[in-house]
Amino acid sequence: MPRLGVNIDHVATLRQARGGREPDPVQAAVVAELAGADGITIHLREDRRHIQDRDLRLLRESIGVILNLEMSLSPEILELAIVVRPDQLTFVPERRAELTTEGGLDVVGLRDRIAPMLDRCREHNLIASLFIDPDPAQVEAAIALGVDAVELHTGRYANAAGSKAIAVEFAALRRASEAIVAAGIELHAGHGLTLKNTGPIAAISGMKELNIGHAIVARAVFVGLDRAVREMKDAITAASATNRTAIAAG
Ligand code: PXP
Repeated sequence: MPRLGVNIDHVATLRQARGGREPDPVQAAVVAELAGADGITIHLREDRRHIQDRDLRLLRESIGVILNLEMSLSPEILELAIVVRPDQLTFVPERRAELTTEGGLDVVGLRDRIAPMLDRCREHNLIASLFIDPDPAQVEAAIALGVDAVELHTGRYANAAGSKAIAVEFAALRRASEAIVAAGIELHAGHGLTLKNTGPIAAISGMKELNIGHAIVARAVFVGLDRAVREMKDAITAASATNRTAIAAG
């Protein structure tokens, strides 16, 4: 069954809206862990618009589950990560004006910038993941770099309208997943996943981690974070159980 990594950036966004101390993403992480989250994901952006350096440091000391740090190809943030030592680094593209991460990392075009960052991770025994679109050229380039994990961007699937378009995007994710698993690279996915659309992604063979933020924090406004995390965990568990039954039935 895939791990659930709860992305708590939006809790920090709410805190930054008033520039004070509340709500504290570190407290949110503890609640999420107690509710069954297998990991906590944060994106320390270069402009520090939500998560702050202090959050990274306190989370490293507070939580017992996997701490996954999303970051751009910033040498300065990599040096900070080498000191703080999250359990996993996920490299993502970053543009100042974007509302959220808009597409996958262009591994084909940025190979020469990514390779030295991955070398530095290896030197310091840090697990590295690349967040990419499920496009064959990007998948091939990520495999060629010998990265530890790949997180497939599920945004196009999540935004697809109509069953035909959804099927096309899902097929792309499945093909990319097969190639990644066949290459012996750990398979992750995330972005835009909700209670409604997570099941098929959770059931992809070899899926090891799903990173989900907005849907959980949005739901938490109405039902509380504990329940919102439990509901997503249940959806992932149900989808994986269905998958196991289907495999057993041949
Ligand atoms: N994975 C990555 C690499 C992301 O950048 C994000 C958004 O910060 C997510 C997962 C979570 O996306 P969402 O908030 O839409 O669930």
